[in-house]
Order: sequence, then C-alpha cells, then structure tokens
Amino acid sequence: MKDAAPQETIHLSEYTPFGFLIDAVHLTFDLSPNATRVKSRIDFRPNPDATDSTFFLHGEKLTLIEARIDGTPVTPDITDTGLTCTVPDAPFTWEAEVEIDPANNTALEGLYMSGGMYCTQCEAEGFRKITYYPDRPDVMATFTVRINSNMPVLLSNGNPAGEGDGWAEWHDPWPKPAYLFALVAGHLVNHPDHFTTASGREVTLNIWVREGDAHKCAFGMEALKRSMTWDEEVYGREYDLDVFNIVAVDDFNMGAMENKGLNIFNSAAVLASPETATDGNFERIEAIIAHEYFHNWTGNRITCRDWFQLCLKEGLTVFRDAQFTADMRSAPVKRIGDVIDLRARQFPEDQGPLSHPVRPDRYQEINNFYTATVYEKGAEVISMLKRLVGDDAYKNALDLYFDRHDGQACTIEDWLQVFEDATERDLTQFKRWYTQSGTPHLTVAEDWADGTYTLTFTQSTPPDANQSDKLPQVLPIAVGLLSPNGDETVPTTLLEMTEATQSFTFDGLSSRPVPSILRDFSAPVVLDRESSASEQAFLLAHDTDPFTRWDAGRNLARDTLIAMVTEGAAPQGAYLDGLAAVLRDTSLDPAYRALILALPSASELAQALDARGTVPDPDAIHDAQETLRQTLAEKLQDALPGLYAAHQVDGPYSPDAASAGHRSLANAVLSLITRLDSGAQAQTQFDGADNMTQQLAAFGCLLQAKRGEDAIAAFYDQWQADRLVIDKWFSMQVIFAAPDAAASTAAALTRHPDFDVKNPNRFRATLGGLAMNHAGFHRADGSGYALLADWLITLDDLNPQTTARMCAAFQTWARYDEGRKAHARAQMERILAKPDLSRDTSEMITRILK
Ligand code: ARG
Ligand code: ZN
Repeated sequence: MKDAAPQETIHLSEYTPFGFLIDAVHLTFDLSPNATRVKSRIDFRPNPDATDSTFFLHGEKLTLIEARIDGTPVTPDITDTGLTCTVPDAPFTWEAEVEIDPANNTALEGLYMSGGMYCTQCEAEGFRKITYYPDRPDVMATFTVRINSNMPVLLSNGNPAGEGDGWAEWHDPWPKPAYLFALVAGHLVNHPDHFTTASGREVTLNIWVREGDAHKCAFGMEALKRSMTWDEEVYGREYDLDVFNIVAVDDFNMGAMENKGLNIFNSAAVLASPETATDGNFERIEAIIAHEYFHNWTGNRITCRDWFQLCLKEGLTVFRDAQFTADMRSAPVKRIGDVIDLRARQFPEDQGPLSHPVRPDRYQEINNFYTATVYEKGAEVISMLKRLVGDDAYKNALDLYFDRHDGQACTIEDWLQVFEDATERDLTQFKRWYTQSGTPHLTVAEDWADGTYTLTFTQSTPPDANQSDKLPQVLPIAVGLLSPNGDETVPTTLLEMTEATQSFTFDGLSSRPVPSILRDFSAPVVLDRESSASEQAFLLAHDTDPFTRWDAGRNLARDTLIAMVTEGAAPQGAYLDGLAAVLRDTSLDPAYRALILALPSASELAQALDARGTVPDPDAIHDAQETLRQTLAEKLQDALPGLYAAHQVDGPYSPDAASAGHRSLANAVLSLITRLDSGAQAQTQFDGADNMTQQLAAFGCLLQAKRGEDAIAAFYDQWQADRLVIDKWFSMQVIFAAPDAAASTAAALTRHPDFDVKNPNRFRATLGGLAMNHAGFHRADGSGYALLADWLITLDDLNPQTTARMCAAFQTWARYDEGRKAHARAQMERILAKPDLSRDTSEMITRILK
C-alpha cells in the first residue's frame, strides 16, 4: 500500500475571517476548449474585523500568466492549493490572468465542457479552479462578467449588461460568494416564459437546453412559476433580478445548483415529457426546481459563513421544498415518502461509520458532507422546531431571519438566535440536534390505572465513531389515543420530552386506550416499541393519523418478514388481513394504498435485524420478500384484476398527483399479478404503454418475471437516442437482476457501447444500480463488492466527487457475516492502495473502514 501523507482536517473551531473585503469583481473569459483565458480584476481592502492579514488566494490547476497589484506586475508564491503575495496595507486592485483546460476537466468541478457546451459547478470549492480567489462563502462581492466566445448563447449571473458579436456581459448586483458564480456557453435553445412578482417586477424566465430537448421543458417551467408564487405567498419572498435562467446539462455530479439567477441542472432533474419521464421523475423535478429556486433567499441572499454551516441553507431549503410539495400534492403521501427516504438513506449514515452531526465540526473534503444527514435530517430539525414553537411563531422567526440577516453569511447560532428572539424560548438544549450525531432511540412503557393512562418514554443515543457521550435531546412526540372501538379519544397532542426518561399522563379515560405514537413522524428517532401484531393491525385499520397508520402496516410487514427470516415462520395473518382491508377501502387515496402495499426494503430489513443482534443474511431476506410477495398475490388473487382495472387512467397522460396515485396503485397491483400470470398482463401493458410510467413499471415486472429479454431489446430500440431513458434501461436491468446475476449483468452493461464512465448519470445507473440490488451487491462470493471497487478505482482518477459519494455503498459492510466482511474489507483496502487516490475517496474509505 502506498504511504499516503496524512490528510489535513479542517475544524469548525478554527474559523477566522478573511483579512480582506472585496468591493467588486470583474471577470473576462476568452473561451477555448483547451486554453480558456480568465482575467480577473478585484478591488480588495483590509477587513477591519480580521486579525490575520495574510493575502492568500485559493487556486488549483491554474496556469498563472501574469498578476498585477495596482497595475504593477508581481510574483506571488504559488503552491498546489493557492498563492500568497505581499500587498499594500490599504485598498488595492488585484489583476490576474490564468489559463485553464475545460475540455479535460472530467471532475465536473470549476469550468468544464459537457456535450460541446461550457458550464460551471462551483459549490463547494470549484471557483478556485477558475481563477485565484478567496474561495470561501463569507467573502461576498458583486460580479461583472464578460464572456468572449463565438458560441451563440452566453450566460452568467445577474442581469444582462450588453452583448454583441462574439461577446456578452452580465452584471449581478447582489453580493455573493464565489460558490454561486456560474457561466454557460453553448448551442442552446430556450423555452421562454415570464413572471410578474407581487410587487410588479417583470421577470424573464428561460429554460435552456440542447436542440433535441426543447419539448421536455414545459413541465419544469410550470413548476418554476408555481415555486415563485408559493414563495411569495407562504414566505413573503420575491424574486430580485430581471431574468431567471435554468440550464440543463448532461454531465453533472449532483441534482442541480442554485447559482444566482442562473441555476444549472442535471438534465435528469429538469427535462421531462410524458413519453420519457415517470410520475416519480415529474414529482422529483418539481421538487428540485422548487428547491433551487427557494435557495435564492435561503442560501443566496442569506448564505453560510463557512461550510460547516451547510445545513443552514440545505436543511432549511429541503424543509421548504417539502412544504411546497405537500401543498401542491398530497401532504401525507409526501410525508411518508420522506420518512421512507430518511430511514433508507439517513438512518444508515447516522447509525454507521459515517455518522456526523447535522452541523459537522470537522472534515477533510467538504464535498463528502453533502449528505442525507445535512440535508434530510437538517430538514427534520427545522420541522421539529416549527412543531415546537408553532406555525405563527415560526413565521415570525423567519421574517426576522430575512430581515436581520439579508446580505450576510451566517451560522446556526444566528439561526437559533432568531428563534430565541422571536419566541423567547431557550434553545440551548434544542441545539444538540445540530451538534450531536446519531439517531435517538425511544422506548415506551405504559401504565393504566383508574382512568389514568401514563406513557413513560426513555431516550438514548448509542455512542458512535463521531462522539461517545450523548445527552438527552428535545423530542417533540405527537401522540393520539384511540379507544378499543376505534374512536379517537385524545386527538393529536404534542408532548415535549427533554429528559432521558419522562412520563406523560392522560386522565379521565373510560377504557384503556391504544396509543398512536410519533404521529406525522414528529421526530427523527427510532421508536423501539414492542407491540403486538393485533395492536398494529388495529392501528392499521383505525388510526386517524395517516403516517402512524401507514407505519403500523410497515411494522407488521417488517415483523412478519423478520420472523420469516429468523424462524422460518409463515407470513402473518394479521398483516395479510390488514392489508387486504386497506386495499378494499376505496375511501383511501390510491397513492396511499400503494404505499401501504409496498414492503420494507431489503436494506431496511438488514438494518432491523442488525439492531436486534442478528447478522443479516441477504439471500434469506431476498427469499422472504419473494415468498411474502407471492403469498400476498395469492391471497389477494380475486381482488387484483378489479383493482388493476379500476385504477387505469384514461385520456392523455397528466403527471398530476391524483392520476399518478392511480397509476402507482395499479402498477403495485400489476407487480402482484405478474406473480400469478408470469407476466402476461405486464407484457400487454408494456406493448401498449403511451407513457414512461406505464412502460417502465411493466418493464420492471417483465424483468422480475425473468421474461424480459424481448422487452430489453425493444426498449433499447425505441429509446436509444434518449440519454435519460437509456439511463433507466441500464439501471432497471441491474436492479431487477436475480441476486446471482446482478454483478454479471452490471459488468456486461459496462461493456455496452453506451456505457460512459465519465457521465455520472450513466455510471450511477449501472454501478449505483448494483448497490441498490441488496442481495446482488452483498453476494457471499464478494463479486458485487469487487466489481464496484474496480469501477471506483477507475473513476477516481476522472471524477473524485462521484467516486467518493458511491463509496457509501460500503457503509453497512460491518453488519454482515465474517465472509462478506472479509471480502468488503479487502476491496476497500484495494481502493485505499490505489496510487494517487483522491482526498475525497480516501476520506470516505478511511472513515468507513474504522
Ligand atoms: N447546493 C446544491 C443543492 O442543494 C448542491 C450542490 C452541491 N454540489 C457539490 N458538488 N457538492 O441543490
Ligand atoms: Zn440545496
């Protein structure tokens, strides 16, 4: 193994302000694929609040052509990470010219090329690959940008400030940190629209795409306008420039980026047509458009002081986009979907080697902290805060936040102070949600005597790699009580738990109630409550809270699967009967019924087994799921054709929530029917589908029934010209492969001419698909681990960020048996031994192996 130099760890406690302030930044780009020239002119002055006056500018992979201070050439000291230079003790003008190579920038960070167009990604630390600059979010400045290029479309942040043959100029009047800088140049077409803000500002809206994608913009544009209206109505926030541009790019590491006035999107996160995008894609696109738009206030106008504060903008903006989706669609369905996602992605992080607080206090590579903990748990923390203070106080606090901090780079302390000032609440203990890692576990004891019912809760958070001592957190626990006949005797009540153990009483009850605990998932905890199958079935039948009702069904499914895995038990009657009743209940939203019909994922079951001290066997979990699905299909046999027919949606496709709900129930039913008719119905749906939701669901059924060969060929023939649909073609084959075929299927697909290691979407579809096939990835012979490791090693030289993110597939390795553990460890050690391993990947694997 290579003897790597220890990597530098950056600590929150070591924050110091930059020694200089910037008044204005002027940039000129002479674009050229291999030799782009970037000229900067920056007006600096000493920062009166700083103690350190070292003039250090970040810079990576830059060739300095020349530098001047106040017009006089200077020779700075240059290292791999930046430069230092002696500067006057008074305001001065820095000028530099550098050369960069966008065409060979496969890391997709800084200025790079994608399908012939120039584009940028600067968050978190990409601007330093464009020019020398204090690349830190607390340095804010106005930018004026001139682009010289013969590309027809030239875009940057802010408002247009002039254009001519081969050039365009942009001016952004709002001071911003460098991570919000963006530039795009290409042969693009626009889907234009406009919006009038509440105070009458006329805003030009555009979605810019490649020629062939023009028909996929309409939905995104409508979502943008809905987002703009919603932010005015719900948060009182208006847009603040004359134009808002969105650009779709094929090669992108993440979902999208909120650059001021020029959002850049992974094309998968904005382009949609009925034929090519599923209902799930439409919903996700609407949410991401909203998310990036909402960042204009929560992120851009008020930004982060340093990257430890990332959740300040991300947790809040995820919370806001979830509120938006709940308002546009079904609030319970959105909530349940978010909890499924949190348990699938955030809980393993919080309960494994990558555990870190919502506000981390140290990192080596900040890109490794764009995590489910920072984003999704960060949003849960805000949801708890709102629940605790109430809707009106939340609104007052947010108004104060925008008022007090507009134009600033802030911290979590600033955020909490606003809530303390607006509500006069002491949030000292609540702050632990930001500083303590790990998922609290909540146990419950019940007592019943003389009409008084007592719930005693105990909370504890296990020690983890990040912190050993955990203190009690503030837990908002929403509880309702049902009487044995199914009526609600105590409606939803918010209990505020602050102690390690705490009791709450309800008196004057005529009979012992059945508790419904953690309604609406009021706190991101694991509820460890032993309760009988009959009680869960009762809640599944009667609970008035849609979340706890769904969760009761989920618990029944989980417990029955666990008993099948550990004791070879038969599927439980209470679960099967409860499910059949829900399916027949036409008063329930079809989307909700589809959610109840879904089984817990294999990795969720592995996690549950691990928590009970049982080493999970991926093959046994797979078999139990298959058996349970088969049993369900047989049990519901008579009802399935009627349900399938009743939820077909006639007429032209529309992605609205109600239609999507019908399709999602019908397709859940189709997957059960497939177990009885070996795919005949699915083949019919596949052949006749006029939209991607129907086609892809049927495709999945055919793959699952192992009669997908013709469909694989037909799907490819039909869609080979559409990159986003072909991503689905890659991922579906791997996700639906039998456990013993997953790695070989993925390996074969990496040899397909359309596989492109440099395109993150395609890479994730194929290798990320493998990681999603639980029993296939965790194959006892180690073949799944080996294939992923091969490709991570290959990708690391090209794109460290995407490589590092995908290392998380290994984060649960220590749960499994000795044989699997040895294979996983060997593969991770092989990755670590790669010469010149990136800082990103090295940090991830080192943490996971600890
Ligand atoms: N701020 C973006 C968002 O929340 C995420 C961009 C992060 N990019 C990165 N390379 N770490 O939508
Ligand atoms: Zn964001």
